[in-house]
Amino acid sequence: MESDRIKWDDRYAGAELAMGEEPSRFLVERIDQILSVCPGQEAFDIACGEGRNSIFLARHGFRVTGVDISPVGLAKGRERAAAGSLAIDFLQADLETYRFTATYDLIVNINFLLRELIPLAVAALNPRGLFLFESILDTPTLQGYHTRHFLLQPGELPTLFSSQHGKIIHYEELPGADVPVARLIFQRS
Ligand SMILES: C[S@@+](CC[C@H](N)C(=O)[O-])C[C@H]1O[C@@H](n2cnc3c(N)ncnc32)[C@H](O)[C@@H]1O
Repeated sequence: MESDRIKWDDRYAGAELAMGEEPSRFLVERIDQILSVCPGQEAFDIACGEGRNSIFLARHGFRVTGVDISPVGLAKGRERAAAGSLAIDFLQADLETYRFTATYDLIVNINFLLRELIPLAVAALNPRGLFLFESILDTPTLQGYHTRHFLLQPGELPTLFSSQHGKIIHYEELPGADVPVARLIFQRS
């Protein structure tokens, strides 16, 4: 949606990295497990922003496609990737209307929630491919202003995968974290 592009371009407009330099802690914690069970090296980063998670995956040998609506965020990702001599395909698209044109061994979704995209992403996984998902959980302690529709409700995330062909190999909710999150790893059959 155009309003999302405008909002995120504005957030990414400064010289600093709005999402920080470090990749998602969940991704870092799980990378050994991912590498041991992932069937190949094609990865897709949903709503990649400034590319912190795409860059981390590329450093671990994945060929990464990162998609985001914000050209400003993507430009920062491209700059960081070039500085690290990493070839990452950063593409601008609105994920509300996006249709996958290839298949992947790993799809990551960090800090983004578009429920309708989940079945499309699972369908774009290769056999035994992994889907790593983390997003913000609606809890009484959550700080700041959030639109409820974009928050996971407690217990909701596994239900979003329940009709998909495959199994959940990791699930946790961290309601007491600084930013409460739900985290899941799904493996396609
Ligand atoms: C909280 S940021 C997370 C970025 C990245 N996943 C990370 O962890 O650093 C949310 C991202 O979603 C992107 N976004 C929001 N709406 C979008 C849409 N409709 N299509 C594609 N990207 C979108 C924003 O541009 C932003 O980069």
